[in-house]
Amino acid sequence: MIFERVSTGGCQSYLLGCANSCSAVLIDPALPQLDRYLGLLAREGLRLRYVVDTHTHADHFSASRELKERLGVPAVMHRNSVAPHVDMRLDDGDMLIVGDMRLHAIHTPGHTSDSMCLHVDNHLFTGDTLLIGGTGRTDLPTGDPEALYDSLFNTILKLDPATEVHPAHDYKDKVSSTIGREIAENARLQQRDRHAFVEMMEHLNLSAPDHMTEALRTNMCGGRTVEQMLAEAARKVPFMSLAELHARIGEGAGDLIVLDVRERSAYDAGHIHGARHLPRGQLELRVNQELPDPTQRILAVCEFGKVSTLAAATLRELGFRRATALDGGMKLWRDNGYPVEQGGE
Ligand SMILES: [Fe+2]
Repeated sequence: MIFERVSTGGCQSYLLGCANSCSAVLIDPALPQLDRYLGLLAREGLRLRYVVDTHTHADHFSASRELKERLGVPAVMHRNSVAPHVDMRLDDGDMLIVGDMRLHAIHTPGHTSDSMCLHVDNHLFTGDTLLIGGTGRTDLPTGDPEALYDSLFNTILKLDPATEVHPAHDYKDKVSSTIGREIAENARLQQRDRHAFVEMMEHLNLSAPDHMTEALRTNMCGGRTVEQMLAEAARKVPFMSLAELHARIGEGAGDLIVLDVRERSAYDAGHIHGARHLPRGQLELRVNQELPDPTQRILAVCEFGKVSTLAAATLRELGFRRATALDGGMKLWRDNGYPVEQGGE
């Protein structure tokens, strides 16, 4: 079995490949690693057959929908998942066949109601049900400490102690363990009495994960992340450096229109010499009056270089084929000591 673990911060994803059939399955892919997965599949000569999420992640952005759309492979989750982009929903005991590999789904609710583990040979991909030296939390949406107790003590901890454990998270720089070692050493698993375990899980007092609302929105509802929207816009537009713009302004800027898309108060407080003002929120409403010539070269500028990228992409869609965005924004411009002017247009 070809085995690749890809780590993103504390999140772990796994690419499993069958060398005989050149087919593969990807477990818990994370959006920031999208190009890495595509690169690994190409490097190993593998064709992806399934992309699987072990549960609805509340702390990172799943790449499943993006991979399913790009590669035309089914997105797989447990039947209890509500994500609309899922193509195949598994029940406890269902099996995925990928070349010579047999992936058995074990429903392990507790961390979430749609949590499942995948058992392949002597490997168990535990999602957030069992971590190395820990367990998933049960205080997020659909979490249930009673169910987690059963999923652990009455289900996966009864597997062969030599079974290797591969969790969806690694917060402690430990990347490999076994069921036997976790039973012996995992502090959370020392509470073997149901009541004591539930009591412990209910009083962990953990803070909410970063990006939880955005992760649940995108993973449960199939929406895009703000970062994805910006990256898509950035692929559609060329950029100009601060130094290039500074030099061009010094030479008189030629036919370049510097378009400041921030709010009025920010523009008045300090803008680039000669910049015109058209806030992003009014771009579509006023573009016909303000920019009648679509052949003009336009450079969108904002405070941090993100909204200007969206504005330049919108201008390109509207037919302004020479729209560009500043690489960086007014904050960086000021930090570089480049001159600004105050007051209205
Ligand atoms: Fe999770």
